[in-house]
Amino acid sequence: MINYNNYGDIKTKQKIIDDLLKKRNAILLAHNYQRDEIQEIADFQGDSLGLSIEANKTDADIIVFCGVRFMAESAAIMNPEKTVILPNKDAGCPMVDMITARDVLRLKDDYPDAPVVAYVNTSAECKAVSDICCTSANAVKVVNSLPGKRVIMIPDKNLGNYTQRFTDKDVICWSGYCPPHKRTNPEDVEVLKEKYPGAVFVAHPESTPETIDVADYVSSTSGMYKFVRESNAKYFIIGTERGIMYKMKKENPDKVFISSNSGLVCPNMKKTHLDNIIDSLENMRNIIKIPEDVRIQARKSIENMLAL
Ligand code: 13P
Ligand code: SF4
Repeated sequence: MINYNNYGDIKTKQKIIDDLLKKRNAILLAHNYQRDEIQEIADFQGDSLGLSIEANKTDADIIVFCGVRFMAESAAIMNPEKTVILPNKDAGCPMVDMITARDVLRLKDDYPDAPVVAYVNTSAECKAVSDICCTSANAVKVVNSLPGKRVIMIPDKNLGNYTQRFTDKDVICWSGYCPPHKRTNPEDVEVLKEKYPGAVFVAHPESTPETIDVADYVSSTSGMYKFVRESNAKYFIIGTERGIMYKMKKENPDKVFISSNSGLVCPNMKKTHLDNIIDSLENMRNIIKIPEDVRIQARKSIENMLAL
């Protein structure tokens, strides 16, 4: 159990982390939904794709992955010679738990001609029995790169339905979903658009089809940063986890960002605190371990994605 006042105020904690990172030749990667004070000290901040690429590029010995477990696992799968730390071991993703490797094998039996595209939000075991991974930033590209007339997409039905809009292939979806993004809805967006005339609604592909239908722009989290930076609009209704708005506000002080609904918080992305980072780095705790046979198979799926 960590006492969150153990290490002093935020600035002191950030300084301790900075020193520990240097001492251990470590790099801190943070997902765009992380707490503000973690975004502030990240060596690199990004979406799932950007973080995977960055984890592969670094020559640090240790990767401190501030995100959720599947992200840290992907870094460990690709970098067996490095130590990957997930500062709070309980930071998971409910969508990951909505499908097992056994479910994937059953799907393959049912549709033997269809390659399996695993969203990175899957366990290492599921990746190991899939053909290729994708993220929200490249799902359409991945699906369209595959041979044949149909593909299986796991586990997110919403990402699958979104991809279906941009491909002639039949997309066979598993029934998983992201609980926070499921809460986005067109009614809330309509109310906000009336309140903020001219507001642009930006949605994530994990949103429901009804929400995607009313979106002005749909992209991964890093794509959203780029979009709001380049847009001339003043008001933006943001249909993804609220943490993303921290940097948006900072980078675009003349623009106004409004969350598309009050429930858009991912509790798992908020489980990591500065104290967890200090504790795990100081004591070399919460290191990701993946069985070697699973790692080797899962790596092929991630490599196939990165090769694109
Ligand atoms: P991206 O940052 O890759 O768009 O993903 C969002 C997400 O929900 C990750 O869990
Ligand atoms: Fe999982 Fe959704 Fe949280 Fe992303 S936002 S980690 S998909 S629950």
